[in-house]
Amino acid sequence: MEPMKAREHFGSRMAVIMAMAGSAIGLGNIWRFPYLVGQNGGAAFILVYLVACVVLALPVFMAEAIIGRRSGCNSFGAMRVLAPGTRWKWLAMVTVITPMLILSYYSVVGGWSVDYFIKSCAFRFTGDTSGIFGRFISSTWEPLITHTVFMAFTAGIVLLGVKKGIEKFTKITMPMLFVLIVAIVIYGLTIPGSWKGVEYMVKPDFSKLDANVVATAMGQAFFSLSLGVGTILTYASYMQKQENIVTSGVCTASFDLLFALLAGFAVMPAVFAAGIAPEEGAGLVFQTLPFIFSHMGWAGAIVSILFFFSILIAALTSSISVLEVGVAYLVEEKGWTRVRSTLVLALATWALGVLCSLSFGPLSGVKLLGLGFFDIFDNLCSNWLMPFGGLLFSLFVGWKMSKADVRDEFTNGGTRNVGLFNAVYFLLRYVAPVGILVVFVTNLLF
Ligand code: PFF
Repeated sequence: MEPMKAREHFGSRMAVIMAMAGSAIGLGNIWRFPYLVGQNGGAAFILVYLVACVVLALPVFMAEAIIGRRSGCNSFGAMRVLAPGTRWKWLAMVTVITPMLILSYYSVVGGWSVDYFIKSCAFRFTGDTSGIFGRFISSTWEPLITHTVFMAFTAGIVLLGVKKGIEKFTKITMPMLFVLIVAIVIYGLTIPGSWKGVEYMVKPDFSKLDANVVATAMGQAFFSLSLGVGTILTYASYMQKQENIVTSGVCTASFDLLFALLAGFAVMPAVFAAGIAPEEGAGLVFQTLPFIFSHMGWAGAIVSILFFFSILIAALTSSISVLEVGVAYLVEEKGWTRVRSTLVLALATWALGVLCSLSFGPLSGVKLLGLGFFDIFDNLCSNWLMPFGGLLFSLFVGWKMSKADVRDEFTNGGTRNVGLFNAVYFLLRYVAPVGILVVFVTNLLF
């Protein structure tokens, strides 16, 4: 192995978990998960999602963490260090390109939350909230401005570096976010009629399940845990040697799941209380909740401010992790300065994001296979590129790295979780790759 370069590290175990959970918990949990649950059969989707998390996503998480910490490098460099002279590093290019595609449309939705936070503060949600959302996303300038603001915030935090920026930011905001969402759930359950939403979240209707729903659940598991793009790998490379990968993985996945379920329980009961269809789609959080908040008087105004503030924080802690992957690559592989890498990448992804943003308005006529830019990017990344990246990482750890190295990293040199190793290694070597491939193929065929 090449000697590791001197690079920054997270200061403590708590900081690692907070930063990883900060990356994992984001729009995927609060905006995407509730509407996918609504579109794909409620509790039945949640069950498939849980299986995908445990059987596919968690092993891939471990694989990324093992590669990252073992190599102490960005995803491209990690392959160069751990598999010198092989073509693996070119495959790792997927993990440089995918994050940029993700960030481009992620920043657009991040911009929507900036806008909705501002609208909440100005008490602008009265009357036709669906119309407000429709007019907002189909306009040209307003979403572009908020997309720009969101991207600028993301770049600003990444510019500050790992310790001062990411670590400090996530350590304060994640516990705050948790408290806010719990408060919203409790509030929601007091609304008459909301228990139908709880029922929808816990009573499965298996007739809704098909290959596409399973692929969507798998994609959501990867999206939600930030997998297959090198984010967890890069963050794990900032972990100190005495930290344990299993603890970090299980804690991050549990927090992530908790937030997704909490977001579901914040959104669905409110949807049912208002008699709105759960299949509403991507606008669910942005249209339905303001409608409900607007009918709650002054309390609704406060809940609305808190809710969109939570979304904004969650989105930022995730977007910084996406940008960090590319920045780490440019700094370590190309020798660019942190400032130059951050600015160039932020600008390039911002430009792609402009296309995504305009695809709801002036560019709504530009379609490929019936999908606009935003939907193409979202579908391509979460349902294909992220699981594909996960497949590569699990194959790398399961088949390319030596079992002794993997065991050493997983068990902290034979001192921790030794009993768990064989089971996880089996999942990594066989179950995760085969599972991902089967979902790919069935999704293509049916
Ligand atoms: N996991 C984030 C979310 O649920 O919002 C999204 C995400 C972050 C995806 C980082 C990919 C990534 F690399």
